[in-house]
Amino acid sequence: MSVWAILVAAGRGERLGLDQPKAFAKLGADPLLAEPLRRLDESPWVDAIVVVAPAGWEEPAILLAEELGCGKVSACVAGGDSRADSVRAGLTEVPADAVAVLVHDAARPLVGDDVIERVLAPLAEGWDGVVPGLQVADTLKRVGGDGAVAETVARDGLWAVQTPQAFPADVLRRSLASGGDATDCAGSVEAAGGRVKVVPGDPRLLKVTTADDLAKIAAWL
Ligand code: C5P
Repeated sequence: MSVWAILVAAGRGERLGLDQPKAFAKLGADPLLAEPLRRLDESPWVDAIVVVAPAGWEEPAILLAEELGCGKVSACVAGGDSRADSVRAGLTEVPADAVAVLVHDAARPLVGDDVIERVLAPLAEGWDGVVPGLQVADTLKRVGGDGAVAETVARDGLWAVQTPQAFPADVLRRSLASGGDATDCAGSVEAAGGRVKVVPGDPRLLKVTTADDLAKIAAWL
């Protein structure tokens, strides 16, 4: 089957406090985008890659892919205002005969073949989406603006969901076409009535939000 990866890297990353987008923040010696790009390109599970860059940063993203020798990169497009819009932009470059689409956040640089295999394999059983997740270990509380606890949320059955997320290409296309701005693609598929499975994720798939996250991930490289 042909698997297309959409690497979404168009977020601003304002909490990093840099004057460039998060995807171009330094992780070690290279821009953050380099790590997930190289890993997806080297994965035997991935046939082709579409990079979704911040508007105006398509050229640096293409140059980076060339420098890294990432021969699977087929296109680089500008993202949109929301993550869902960025995935929609990436999907326009995925050909009609693609069987599966793997959507991955560039902000989670340490993507590995093991988790890619875990999310792709159940698609053969007819799932509309497969996502990696970690069972929530902490006690969860809903907190008001004034810092007061409004309620303690039962954590049974609660999972924190990561990327890469895998979908049959036609399911993802249909789900995103029906609109909405869910914070992950699985949310759009669920809203459209799809059945989504959770498989074990990886703590190393931490999403870079702050400078501390960058330092932590750099230490894991
Ligand atoms: O903002 P959030 O943390 O949910 O971003 C997750 C991923 O989605 C990041 O890799 C970010 O670059 C990407 N994103 C995007 N376009 C947006 C917002 C986020 O490609 N408009």
